[in-house]
Amino acid sequence: MGFSSPVCVLFFFLGVKVYCQYGSYQWDEDYDQEPDDVYQPEFQFHQNEDYGVPFHQHTIGCASECFCPPNFPSSMYCDNRKLKTIPNIPAYIQQVYLQFNEIEVVTADSFINATHLKEINLSHNKIKSQNIDHGVFAKLSNLLQLHLQHNNLEDFPFPLPKSLERILLGYNQISRLQTNAVNGLVNLTMLDLCYNQIDDSTLQEKILAKMEKLMQLNLCNNRLESMPPGLPSSLMYLSLENNSISAIPENYFNELPKLHALRMSHNKLQDIPYYIFNLSNLMELNVGHNKLKQAFYIPRNLEHLYLENNEIESM
Ligand SMILES: *[C@@H]1O[C@H](CO)[C@@H](O)[C@H](O)[C@H]1NC(C)=O
Ligand SMILES: *[C@@H]1O[C@H](CO)[C@@H](O)[C@H](O)[C@H]1NC(C)=O
Ligand SMILES: *[C@@H]1O[C@H](CO)[C@@H](O)[C@H](O)[C@H]1NC(C)=O
Ligand SMILES: *[C@@H]1O[C@H](CO)[C@@H](O)[C@H](O)[C@H]1NC(C)=O
Ligand SMILES: *[C@@H]1O[C@H](CO)[C@@H](O)[C@H](O)[C@H]1NC(C)=O
Repeated sequence: MGFSSPVCVLFFFLGVKVYCQYGSYQWDEDYDQEPDDVYQPEFQFHQNEDYGVPFHQHTIGCASECFCPPNFPSSMYCDNRKLKTIPNIPAYIQQVYLQFNEIEVVTADSFINATHLKEINLSHNKIKSQNIDHGVFAKLSNLLQLHLQHNNLEDFPFPLPKSLERILLGYNQISRLQTNAVNGLVNLTMLDLCYNQIDDSTLQEKILAKMEKLMQLNLCNNRLESMPPGLPSSLMYLSLENNSISAIPENYFNELPKLHALRMSHNKLQDIPYYIFNLSNLMELNVGHNKLKQAFYIPRNLEHLYLENNEIESM
């Protein structure tokens, strides 16, 4: 389908940008327009630069395997060091970067003194769920961000601290989620579970509804055959790309009035209710690479519509 096809021309006149080819569309971990209250790391630091600042007294406790930049004394950099275990983390550290190592276990005393931690990056390691000691993260009552993507997790980590705002769990083998796994995560705004083995049975009735502040839920590249049930009404960004979802229940979006972006390309959508996307806040809709045959209602505020690779004859 090219840009001259009837579908594209029609939408162009309605003022909606329609993408008829997949082109450069890509999945991003985060959306561009992130709400203001999303936690950002406090420091932007490049390890190779020479800051020429005298050694800060705090750096004395820095683990010998790691690097604690003198002028950012609350951060400890231990990434890319072939580490097999988590080094001792001094009490004053707030950000610890442990990504790209060979860490297999997270023991009860891994973070025992580090009660001020706000951010832990453990992505790209070899951690299995059974090798995380129970409750090790839950004790970190100041933790805001936890990166565990690209590990060997099979279960959703539980329990987690109630302070948590963002958790990244993509690229694991997660297929299990305890019924109470997300209970109490009242401040969680972003949950990334793309590239796992989640199917309909993983997300039983309303498990996810408890996260009252959740804005972004990423479930792309999993094994869902149905729309995830009981999502919190705070949700603004929902990614379900590359699953096997074939239908959307009639009133599915009634409980998601804030939805801004819905990404559902590479599914098996066939017949959907005509007014299903009548959502006043919807700005981005991606239903490319499905089996849609019929036209559907395009909401007024929509700015980006991806429709390529469907079977729609005329709209
Ligand atoms: C925790 O702190 C105590 C006392 O300062 C120290 O002896 C111990 O080695 C520390 N443990 C870890 C895992 O950092
Ligand atoms: C954490 O590690 C990932 C690599 O998986 C990297 O992309 C990300 O920037 C890291 N986060 C921070 C704040 O350094
Ligand atoms: C949730 O965030 C609010 C506002 O930042 C904060 O006051 C509150 O303590 C947080 N709740 C938990 C359980 O950490
Ligand atoms: C969709 O997932 C399958 C595996 O389940 C993978 O082989 C394929 O590359 C994915 N497609 C896209 C577009 O991500
Ligand atoms: C579309 O949504 C608006 C506002 O939510 C509602 O008033 C209207 O009845 C809906 N239209 C249809 C055809 O469902």
